[in-house]
Amino acid sequence: ESAKLTLDPAFEVGPVERRLFGSFVEHMGRCVYTGVFEPGHPRADGTGLRHDVIELTREMGVTAVRYPGGNFVSNYEWEDGVGPADDRPTRLDLAWKQIETNAFGLNEFMTWLNEVDAEPVMAVNLGTRGVGEARDLLEYANFPGGTRWSDLRIAHGRREPYGIKVWCLGNEMDGPWQIGGKTAQEYGRIAHETAKAMRRVDPSIELVACGSSNLRIPTFGSWEATVLEHCYEQVDYISAHNYYDPVPGDLASYLASAIEMEMQIEGVIATADHVAAKLGSRKRLKVSFDEWNVWSQSRFGGESGLEWSHAPRLIEEEYDVAGAAVVGSLLITLLNHTDRVGIACQAQLANVIAPIRTEPGGPAWRQTIFHPFALTAAHARGRVLQAQVTAPKMVTERYGEVPALAAAATLDDDRLSVFAVNRGDEPLPLEIDLRGLPGATGITHVTVADDDTSARNTERDPRRVEPRPLDGATIDGHLLKAVLPPISFNVLTAE
Ligand code: AHR
Repeated sequence: ESAKLTLDPAFEVGPVERRLFGSFVEHMGRCVYTGVFEPGHPRADGTGLRHDVIELTREMGVTAVRYPGGNFVSNYEWEDGVGPADDRPTRLDLAWKQIETNAFGLNEFMTWLNEVDAEPVMAVNLGTRGVGEARDLLEYANFPGGTRWSDLRIAHGRREPYGIKVWCLGNEMDGPWQIGGKTAQEYGRIAHETAKAMRRVDPSIELVACGSSNLRIPTFGSWEATVLEHCYEQVDYISAHNYYDPVPGDLASYLASAIEMEMQIEGVIATADHVAAKLGSRKRLKVSFDEWNVWSQSRFGGESGLEWSHAPRLIEEEYDVAGAAVVGSLLITLLNHTDRVGIACQAQLANVIAPIRTEPGGPAWRQTIFHPFALTAAHARGRVLQAQVTAPKMVTERYGEVPALAAAATLDDDRLSVFAVNRGDEPLPLEIDLRGLPGATGITHVTVADDDTSARNTERDPRRVEPRPLDGATIDGHLLKAVLPPISFNVLTAE
């Protein structure tokens, strides 16, 4: 049985939101230290930034990077990480039981970001700190000069303000694990007051309120409703986080993880719109899905098993081909919600549940999940078209019957790109009805697939899994035909 996709340029979801190709750098494990930053590494510059990692990040097409956490931010004092390196204090990171040297901080991050050519998504500490420190950080970052904190930035060699646009008001404040966690009432109030103060410093900023940490937390839905009743008019986004767990012996459910992401996006939007209705507001919030990835979280023992250390090897997950297909389908889901999801950040960038792996003093390489991200970021341009999918069903334990095909399509002038995941373990013939699209001719088909779906890229074999071109796609009038390999991520282009 084949799958069918119908596309019509008259029916679109909206312009491709380029901030959907965000990533995340947290002071955690080896994401910063020996990940993006390693003074003395053969590829590091004078600041200590690893240029092999910068090159890979650019190749991935990352457009925005969230920083400095994550759970880390809720106990972080940003002033520790600026100014002369020798004067910076070593502190305890209570989130991950790590010794934080503060050798890397805001200014190093912004230098790195400039090399990567991406935009910051900056988080403030609303765990152990509050309105005042968020105000000071914004003054340091964005105020032109002539005041205590802006002059300090200038004294640190940064004359021009950074003009950081997007700010997250804390991180996962609903989580019992969060240092300084809050009830929805408490958080809604502090988010409101922090937003008010920050907008006085810089009215041009965009603010993200913390939504739930995942879909399974018992307060999902009610947390967003209560928080937004306090701060709806002060913020622009409500966040969503989720990690998709490959439960052993249930590959089908894992491959259908995007169903859960879709439920979460739609649940958060419904809740935010409900608050808008209650408040009589015409303003509409967007979702910032600012932590998402595949992660065997059930295998992670949690923070309690950790010992104090600096830059330990923490959740350095190795990804396989199935993981790449799941990541591809999550990106497809984000694209199909481009009208209401304004930011998304894959967590994280280097080493910690990451598309890029590094060795201290050694190489950097691309994990399997690097490829669907890079391909989608490169090809998703212009407008997202509504993807009308009819596909054979597969049965999953967690989500019941799901379509074997996940697909999204973008149209940029006359260039059509179709992103498609075959979740099934048989080749899937696909017919795309291109009605209304100008007669396309040149077709390309690139796939990320392997006969062994558990194949991975490792330091020894870093190119085991790579995108490869496939022959056989045809176009006849308005009908495009291709066959998607079993458990694969695919990009078809036509122009
Ligand atoms: O990305 C790892 C952690 O997962 C983040 O610090 C936290 O926000 C989430 O729980």
